[in-house]
Amino acid sequence: MDPNILFKYALQVRDRSYSPYSGFRVGAALKVAGVEEPVTGTNVENASYGATICAERAAVLAAIARYGKVPFEAIAVVADAQPYVVPCAACLGVLAEFCPADFPIYCCNLEGIQKVLQLRDLLPNPFRLERP
Ligand code: THU
Repeated sequence: MDPNILFKYALQVRDRSYSPYSGFRVGAALKVAGVEEPVTGTNVENASYGATICAERAAVLAAIARYGKVPFEAIAVVADAQPYVVPCAACLGVLAEFCPADFPIYCCNLEGIQKVLQLRDLLPNPFRLERP
């Protein structure tokens, strides 16, 4: 899929961001293997700030609710940020649960895709539950 399509979906869903506390509106679009239309998510804040859900996690959870644990191919994330927005550490941990180290993350601002990173660039050593 053309990553610019992913960007457009992320930009569109960002309009539905519920972010009255931070004013920081974020949109994310996730490409699911074998599914044409990207699954989108936006940030939803809460008066109890810690209950806030980021756009990227909203997209991952929506994709799993709809399709189960299927391979994800890429994600685009957009906010009014300079030079671009990157997923927070909690979202990277959730992505690492389901995606390979070379999973592409399209980091965008309102003008478009500004940087393509791989999951390993942002989270080189993800936590894994491995008991001795
Ligand atoms: N946020 C996201 O949705 N994704 C990110 O990658 C960074 C942060 C949201 C959480 C909160 O609603 C607002 O942005 C400010 O932190």
